[in-house]
Amino acid sequence: MTKRGGKKRTPAPPPRTAAIPAGAPGRARLIRRVRRGDLEAIIALDTRTTGLSKDSHWRELVERGGRSRRENEFVFLVAVSDDASASLSGFIVGEVRAWEFGSAPCGWVYAMAVEPALREQHVGEHLLAAVATEFRRAGVKKMRTMVAKDNRLPMLFFRGEGMMAGPYIQLEKDLE
Ligand SMILES: CC(C)(COP(=O)(O)OP(=O)(O)OC[C@H]1O[C@@H](n2cnc3c(N)ncnc32)[C@H](O)[C@@H]1OP(=O)(O)O)[C@@H](O)C(=O)NCCC(=O)NCCS
Repeated sequence: MTKRGGKKRTPAPPPRTAAIPAGAPGRARLIRRVRRGDLEAIIALDTRTTGLSKDSHWRELVERGGRSRRENEFVFLVAVSDDASASLSGFIVGEVRAWEFGSAPCGWVYAMAVEPALREQHVGEHLLAAVATEFRRAGVKKMRTMVAKDNRLPMLFFRGEGMMAGPYIQLEKDLE
């Protein structure tokens, strides 16, 4: 199977705690469900990535990710190094939402980030593949996200992973 860019797709990793497949590009990492102990590293990575500190937001999502262990609707996965430090390499947050705006159930990717020093080593690709596996298990056949038009990096990433413009447009208005 090839991506839109014509390159070969790396097989999706299993959804639970699992090593990225041997032979996959990049260093060995594990992808697993988020745990409370990941919170500090997630807040630090997000703060460095976005320039905004949102501690209570991440605390709530990490709690939710831990609670929904037996459900597939809300998915919070982390990639950690496969060594004694098990340091955070990246994270992804997604959720299956049904019939919002009249759309059939689909998996939304809300947020993701990879440690800057570890980017372009396929960590993001494996996180996206892992969340897609969770969405498939939840029974949905479509994955969506939203990207700012002028934010080139996520646009390149998601387009590189085969995601294309969908049939909806966002409408907004200032409420002052
Ligand atoms: C977007 C992000 C998560 C990508 O993670 P990553 O681990 O560096 O991405 P990968 O190495 O898995 O790249 C997968 C594909 O995306 C594309 N891509 C990723 N980074 C790219 C870059 N800097 N320039 C061009 N294409 C890029 C490529 O097609 C790449 O495939 P290839 O290496 O085979 O060419 C990471 O850059 C990041 O954390 N950015 C800041 C936060 C952000 O923008 N989050 C997404 C929106 S919430």
